[in-house]
Parts: sequence; structure tokens; C-alpha cells
Amino acid sequence: MKPLIITIDGPAGTGKSTAAKLLASRLEIPFLDTGAMYRAVAWRCLRNNIAFDDEKLVAFQTQTLQFDFSNSHLLIDGADPGEELRTQEVSEAASVIATLQTVRNLLVDQQRKLAGVYSLVTEGRDQGTVVFPNATCKFFLTATAQTRAQRRWMDLQKTDPAASKEVILKEIQQRDERDRNRKAAPLKPAADAIVIDNSEKSLEQVAALLVEHVKQATASEA
Ligand code: DC
Repeated sequence: MKPLIITIDGPAGTGKSTAAKLLASRLEIPFLDTGAMYRAVAWRCLRNNIAFDDEKLVAFQTQTLQFDFSNSHLLIDGADPGEELRTQEVSEAASVIATLQTVRNLLVDQQRKLAGVYSLVTEGRDQGTVVFPNATCKFFLTATAQTRAQRRWMDLQKTDPAASKEVILKEIQQRDERDRNRKAAPLKPAADAIVIDNSEKSLEQVAALLVEHVKQATASEA
């Protein structure tokens, strides 16, 4: 049977990962966090002191990374990527290395390889536009930059209560700008994506909408 591929793209802080995880668990298929793949490359470059704009060296770091799943969890070099991929430093570096076409090509190959083996809910920026143009169902989640900054600030209250909402908003706007305006696979909805603005929606409402659309898409493909 043809693997089921559901893509969820959108800017940072729209709750894509949470929605994608929930959808994947309801469909009982793995969830592919492609942002974690870019973060893993960035983390390695930081650790090995590689300049983020040195395309050849960054590509070399990318080539030697191994990706697979265990019980629907993404493994990077055989291990569950920990919280070290989620720091502000890694977020910034990932956004820069994600502009490098050679790195993107290598990671896109890995993503397609995984999709050859597993049905997937795959989440990122280019999944519906570039990586899986024939996906069963494509979503693009959005929310205002203010809503996203507020959510991020609330998340940070446990670990960094002094974090400034204004600084977070500025960083989100800068990352959006870079992701939307880069030459390689810029962030935008696919022409056939279902666009959902979740600024005013709960996670449960978003998940229910996604499940409903997937049901319709799989029924019409059958
Ligand atoms: O979703 P995230 O914040 O974990 O992604 C980290 C960075 O990687 C972000 O700047 C966008 C980039 N990215 C990308 O360009 N393409 C993807 N498919 C996934 C992430």
C-alpha cells in the first residue's frame, strides 16, 4: 500500500509540532520533525566550531548524520535528540544553515528516504511545497507573530522567567523574515495546502480539524 504522507508547514511558534504529534498519534503513524534535522546539523556545527556559512564544511557535518525512528520517535545518530537542540543559540544557527542549498538537498533526501519506509505526518517549512508535492493532505498553520511570541513567552516562564516578550517577538519576526525570503525553499503555503490560522483556536480544535481533513482526503483517494 502507498505510504500515507501528511505535511504540516508554517512559521515558528504556530504549534505545528504539537498538532503534528497529536495527529500522528491519532493516525498511529510516526511524526517527522524536520526542524530537528536542521537543528541537529546546527548543533553539530556549534560543537565542532564550524562557521554556519561555510557550505562545504556544514554539508560534511550533514552527510554523516544518521536519522531513523524507534517506536515513532525520531532518532538522530541512534539517540533521542534532547533539549540541547531547543536552545536559542541552536534556533538561530539552524535558521542560518537552513539557507544553504547543499544542506537542504541532503536533508530532503533523508526525509524522502524515511517516507519510502514509513507513513508519516511530517512537519517543517517546505514539506508540502518541495519535499512531498504529492502528499495525501497538506496543511499550512499560521498565527499572528504577537500570538506566537505570547505562547513562547508563556512556555519560557518555567525555565527563563526574565525573558522579554519584546525580544521574543523581535526574534520571531527576524526568523520569519529569513525563512520567507531565502532563495532555497522559502516558507510559503503550497498552492493546494489547507491554510489554518490557529490564533483563536485551541489545540483540540486544530487537531479535530486536521483529522477531519485527512479523513476526507483518504476517502477521496480510496
Ligand atoms: O521548526 P524549527 O523551529 O525546529 O526549525 C528550525 C529551523 O530550521 C528554522 O529556522 C526553519 C528551518 N527549517 C527549514 O528551513 N525547513 C524545514 N523543513 C524545517 C525547518
